[in-house]
Amino acid sequence: MEITRREALKHAGLAAGAFSLFGCSTVQQAMAAPAVAVGNAKGYELPPLPYDYDALEPHLDERTMNLHHQRHHAGYVRGLNGSLEKLDAAARSGDMSHVSALTKALAFHGSGHLYHVLFWQSMSPDGGGEPDGALAEMIERDFGSFQGLKTLFATVTKQVQASGWGVLAYEPLGDRLVVLGPEKHENVFFAGAVPLLVCDVWEHAYYLSYQNDRGAFVDTFMDELANWPTAAARLELALGG
Ligand SMILES: [Fe+2]
Repeated sequence: MEITRREALKHAGLAAGAFSLFGCSTVQQAMAAPAVAVGNAKGYELPPLPYDYDALEPHLDERTMNLHHQRHHAGYVRGLNGSLEKLDAAARSGDMSHVSALTKALAFHGSGHLYHVLFWQSMSPDGGGEPDGALAEMIERDFGSFQGLKTLFATVTKQVQASGWGVLAYEPLGDRLVVLGPEKHENVFFAGAVPLLVCDVWEHAYYLSYQNDRGAFVDTFMDELANWPTAAARLELALGG
């Protein structure tokens, strides 16, 4: 990675490349195809997993993955489309009586959909290990070492209150990596940060395999499942690569 390029991006407008990140093929395919008619807006649909439901065994069981994808993730897609449809109707009719609740629902379901798309990509049957290249350099710069990041990410993720996520993100304003622990889907986040690697710690993500031992699931995610090549590719896109 060239510091000069990062600096240029920073001064040219907060790493404008970050915005194209969500236009990369997988996410775009995940979100572009209309599932329902939603006024003039595009609908969203449930993308397939990037691997079979049993591909992450023995670390995550097939039934958990199937239910998580087909029931939970699908529910966020329905909620997202439903919120947009009702907000569209409100804008056209002038009836604003429910828009506050609808915008909250839009943030909840929309963030839930995006995080799940990224969660499937954040895991791999060949996961674990350590990143290399530009991501490794930035991790060492911003956290001291990979072990420093690993311990911070695991601790933050295990301590998320109730249901939420562990997130490693690139923050373009400061041109640095940050670790965040969003609650639910839409709360406790650094606006504008670009998620690179996300770990779902809602109980539906791990309960059949790990029961109430969230810590064991998070450790397994880091040691066996984390898809560092995809995180590195997302960083490159965020940097305008
Ligand atoms: Fe989930």
